[in-house]
Amino acid sequence: MNYMIKTIGCQINVCNSEIISDMLVNNGFFEVKNPEEANIFILNTCSIRSSAEQKAFSYLGRLEILKMKNKKLKIFVIGCMAERLGNIIKQRFKTVNLVIGNKDVKYVIFKIVSSFQHIDTKNTLVSNNKIVNYIKIMTGCNNYCTYCIVPFVCGNEHSFNFNTILNRCSMLVRRGTKKIILLGQNVNSYKYGNVDFTMLLKQIARINGVERISFMTNHPKDFNIDLINIISNEPKICTNIHIPMQSASDRILKKMNRKYTYSNYIKLIDNLRSAIPNINITTDIIVGFPTETSMDFKKTLNAVQTIKFSKVYAFKYSPRPNTLSYNMIDDVTPLEKKERLKVILKESNKISVEILSKMIGSVQEVLTEDIIGDTIKATTRCGYKVFIKTLDNKYNYLGKQLNVKIKTVKINSLIAEII
Ligand code: 5AD
Ligand code: SF4
Repeated sequence: MNYMIKTIGCQINVCNSEIISDMLVNNGFFEVKNPEEANIFILNTCSIRSSAEQKAFSYLGRLEILKMKNKKLKIFVIGCMAERLGNIIKQRFKTVNLVIGNKDVKYVIFKIVSSFQHIDTKNTLVSNNKIVNYIKIMTGCNNYCTYCIVPFVCGNEHSFNFNTILNRCSMLVRRGTKKIILLGQNVNSYKYGNVDFTMLLKQIARINGVERISFMTNHPKDFNIDLINIISNEPKICTNIHIPMQSASDRILKKMNRKYTYSNYIKLIDNLRSAIPNINITTDIIVGFPTETSMDFKKTLNAVQTIKFSKVYAFKYSPRPNTLSYNMIDDVTPLEKKERLKVILKESNKISVEILSKMIGSVQEVLTEDIIGDTIKATTRCGYKVFIKTLDNKYNYLGKQLNVKIKTVKINSLIAEII
């Protein structure tokens, strides 16, 4: 039985797709990359912006055509859009066999597999032996930023059991994992009983065989001094830190219900930079939030120039049903949003290249995470992607920490050679 899984959206979706994929493989399914070869197609969807939903709709349109040729094809739609627009999907696309919202991922797998065969419960443990693995440590969000649909599609914040997370880390390490990426809509507000995020990081770092720990995504308001200290003191923790700023105008931040001012944000960045010298800070920005004037936008642009993020993920504001800002007038014109996005991206890309260029000639310790064709894909401890043209014995390098010399820069990545 061949399956194909297409993932739209964030790392949490990527993580869920990986879990589903592993379980299917363990139950005798075979992954294909060409939809024509699939007996099962799983579309893992996202609702964060309307463009993500449009993408899924257009995918479903293409699958409809595919199903005319291959009537036996089973189509499953999962993820946030299945949660939010399940009925509409079922009505509009009769070809879809099953729509499963944001339930526990095991339930999703159960529904998929049991529509073909009995699940072999002996085989339901995840067993991938990748160098890098994601672990979800919490879901949902209680912050209710006024633009954000997450609390409505993923529910309230819920942190997973601390011991289960530690056991899963140990299990992954036994299977060859070297780097663990902790995931959550708000990882740094993790709280299970008395265990907070810093304590969780400390415990994971104690596990023998865990070589690197990374995490995303953070809320500035929960980034406390303990967390800064542990990143600075614990060498296993990677120093690429994603901290969404969204805007640098206090008036807009307030309207977004972000619970910090620009000066709070800058202070956090300063504290991080003085505690962690080689930190790589990335951010998210929304342009064209309701009532954003060109002055507000200027503040955000200035902040990008001052802070010098190594990468900015910028988005045009997209009104989402149920959210508080949905009732605000979406008064920044599409053209203006497009223009602001272009300006931010142009500036931030220039800065990214400047930052990466400074690394040319330096020696970096990288973890080799994957091999793609004749290239080794690795990352530095501060999270920069490094590509190394390989030698004959490339597989000997997989999962190893190596010293490499940085030769050149490509957009968002470095090219290096082994020394
Ligand atoms: N419109 C545009 N961008 C959004 N984001 C979240 N909701 C919206 C929206 N309605 C962006 C934020 C968030 C990132 C994951 O997506 O920047 O940090
Ligand atoms: Fe959405 Fe805000 Fe929660 Fe992030 S913190 S998931 S932007 S509501």
